[in-house]
Amino acid sequence: MPRLYDSCKRILVTGGAGFLGSHLVDRLLKQGHEVLCVDNLFTGTKRNIEHLHGHARFEFMRHDVTFPLFVEVDEIYNLACPASPIHYQHDPVQTTKTSVHGAINMLGLAKRLKCRILQASTSEVYGDPAVHPQTEDYWGHVNPIGPRSCYDEGKRCAETLFFDYHHQLGLEIKVARIFNTYGPRMHPADGRVVSNFIVQALKNAPITLYGDGEQTRSFCYVDDLIDGLIRLMDSPAAFTGPVNLGNPGEFTMRELADLVLAETGSASPIVTLPLPQDDPRQRQPDISLAKARLGWAPRIALREGLKPTADYFRTLLAGNVAAEGGRSRKRRAKIDSFRLIAESTGRANLALSHGESELKRQK
Ligand SMILES: NC(=O)c1ccc[n+]([C@@H]2O[C@H](COP(=O)([O-])OP(=O)(O)OC[C@H]3O[C@@H](n4cnc5c(N)ncnc54)[C@H](O)[C@@H]3O)[C@@H](O)[C@H]2O)c1
Repeated sequence: MPRLYDSCKRILVTGGAGFLGSHLVDRLLKQGHEVLCVDNLFTGTKRNIEHLHGHARFEFMRHDVTFPLFVEVDEIYNLACPASPIHYQHDPVQTTKTSVHGAINMLGLAKRLKCRILQASTSEVYGDPAVHPQTEDYWGHVNPIGPRSCYDEGKRCAETLFFDYHHQLGLEIKVARIFNTYGPRMHPADGRVVSNFIVQALKNAPITLYGDGEQTRSFCYVDDLIDGLIRLMDSPAAFTGPVNLGNPGEFTMRELADLVLAETGSASPIVTLPLPQDDPRQRQPDISLAKARLGWAPRIALREGLKPTADYFRTLLAGNVAAEGGRSRKRRAKIDSFRLIAESTGRANLALSHGESELKRQK
């Protein structure tokens, strides 16, 4: 619902050029706020915010949150952090720094400004859960020294910092534990299962299932998730979370592959590969708390959300064939290093992103 002009705020969104961040920025602008988008463009891209170029209430600042930031805002959404295994394993030390130093810097800013701050945490704090579905009081089952630890433990430490700032200094905090979310503007090379399957299907390349394909995930459409984040930020001060935000509908990877094939009309075969290390068998949110405290529940079914997502990737793939040829050497090196990580973590096929396969074609 649009806000009244006199309730317009100046809002900082870190990671605002990323997948979720750019949708959040759009929604906040639509509500009439001013938005400062801060991003170092590690996994985010200017393409996600280019439609906002020249918007009177939008400002972009290229900045790394591991360094202190001095700005004046009324509210902070802290989303900056690479979110997919391929990206966060690219530089694990930087990933932990982004979560931990980034949280310290943004909390320090919120403390100085006496403003409310929301942390985009993750279902990964539950690790490979022994409890199913996961409720917020479950402490998790996390490997502290595995390939996913930089992300999982970084996010756990960030949550700790948020609650310590709250208890020790009275800061108004909100912590959202986000479960798998998908939609337009996902990175085509991020190796996340939805983007991976859709890109493979659109290219009629084999759809790669890990293990027996019977492991399950739940998928939340981006519009629903953004709605949940904003409701959480606007909730009474006493409600800090952590609160699960996700879609409890559970699908096996095989079911997802079938839905993607149906949506794209692709002739891709399905092939199986070994399960990567520490890959959770099951992940499903219990969203009772979000329902009770935020009046929130996802509304968009997977079948429905796959359509705009596939349309996005169709357009992206069509447009990028030319663009990839003009990539800089640095950009090619980055794509190559994502490929190396993918290979070393048993996800070789995941690196067959659009960008990389185009590069190969052009060689
Ligand atoms: N998408 C999901 O399914 C999901 C699930 C759980 C949690 N999350 C969390 O939501 C947030 C956004 O995820 P996303 O899916 O949009 O990922 P994304 O990679 O598209 O967005 C992250 C953004 O953060 C920026 N960034 C990374 N490191 C930074 C740094 N040091 N300084 C400034 N900017 C930096 C990136 O350039 C990118 O724009 C992340 O914190 C992620 O952990 C996402």
